[in-house]
Amino acid sequence: MKLLVVGSGGREHAIAKKLLESKDVEKVFVAPGNDGMTLDGLDLINIGISEHSKLIDFVKANDIAWTFIGPDDALAAGIVDDFNAAGLKAFGPTKAAAELEWSKDFAKEIMVKYDVPTAAYGTFSDFEEAKAYIEEKGAPIVVKADGLALGKGVVVAETVEQAVEAAHEMLLDNKFGDSGARVVIEEFLDGEEFSLFAFVNGDKFYIMPTAQDHKRAYDGDKGPNTGGMGAYAPVPHLPQSVVDTAVDTIVKPVLEGMIKEGRPYLGVLYAGLILTADGPKVIEFNSRFGDPETQIILPRLTSDFAQNITDILDGKKPAITWTDKGVTLGVVVASNGYPLAYEKGVKLPAKTEGDIITYYAGAKFAENGQDLLSNGGRVYMLVATADTVKDGQNIIYSQLNKQNTEGLFYRNDIGSKALKD
Ligand code: AMP
Ligand code: GLY
Repeated sequence: MKLLVVGSGGREHAIAKKLLESKDVEKVFVAPGNDGMTLDGLDLINIGISEHSKLIDFVKANDIAWTFIGPDDALAAGIVDDFNAAGLKAFGPTKAAAELEWSKDFAKEIMVKYDVPTAAYGTFSDFEEAKAYIEEKGAPIVVKADGLALGKGVVVAETVEQAVEAAHEMLLDNKFGDSGARVVIEEFLDGEEFSLFAFVNGDKFYIMPTAQDHKRAYDGDKGPNTGGMGAYAPVPHLPQSVVDTAVDTIVKPVLEGMIKEGRPYLGVLYAGLILTADGPKVIEFNSRFGDPETQIILPRLTSDFAQNITDILDGKKPAITWTDKGVTLGVVVASNGYPLAYEKGVKLPAKTEGDIITYYAGAKFAENGQDLLSNGGRVYMLVATADTVKDGQNIIYSQLNKQNTEGLFYRNDIGSKALKD
């Protein structure tokens, strides 16, 4: 069987590598991918994620069994609808189902309608009304651009003034373009954040190990929000009862709700949650796998990934199994300056051998076709599975200490929250 993965980051590297390890898979193509992936035997094709008809032609010409869609913007652009219209199978939600991610306002409406616990909120396109709402509710309060803003359209405001300024920037100064033409203003939720992922087809879903991302750029959760600087799974201090509650009060009702809305969900559902004093509540839904969470979840999968996805696509029950060994932990190495301006072209350390996995994101071959150079914000990620979070940190950080990471940076405290209890 031949498969295609759409996307180019560390998430897609992890998906494609796991698919290639499956028994009946002879080739995995990645469009457009990154050069680092070729070190794992993946085949890159030079077609962009928004070139749906070229991708469809490629799939038809190369007898691809099905396509796994990685990124949110491809899903929001209706790539799955276009594949389906061409008679092709794609693992990911349709545009209408992916609206759970691409419109925060839609996600909120669904949550309210189907009684899914989330922060109280209001949606505004008029600045004066937004301002009045903020002044009435007080701080802390959270201001979010309605549309996709690559994780950067969220301001957790500690004062009323900050919140009003954020609403001003989004609604009047167009700081986030169209995605900020409406804002969602919501109650600040206090508690520990974690992510819950599920493979989904309609009302059937299969929960993955819990994960915790580290979104801020610097140690101690300081600095600007990023796509994610490291993660680990499962979250050892999160009791199974919390996961069970999240499944019953969040995952089940939202999937049943999507069916009632005529938007049945297929693909990976990603619930970003906060464990409050009143139980888990939703911060956001994403309509896809997380990056970097995929890179620490998929290494724990012990079943045949390609067979699992084939079964889910066919409406059959997949035989999904996970290792129960300790914890899988990963640290992202990024270009100095990320998430703001950064330089490219730094020579990267050699790919790790043995039990430490290297997943590449922004990586490109030099002209000699051998050296890998940095070519993006997040560049690569080291991942290991160990008995404890502490052991995982020791393995990864001692490897990073041996590498020349000049021109690059990483956080030194990935997983440390798990050590506090
Ligand atoms: P989002 O892009 O919606 O995931 O938000 C980015 C980050 O902002 C989250 O990871 C949280 O740390 C924080 N955040 C978002 N919404 C809330 C909320 N209602 N209460 C507290 N923190 C929040
Ligand atoms: N790790 C955060 C995200 O994928 O949105």
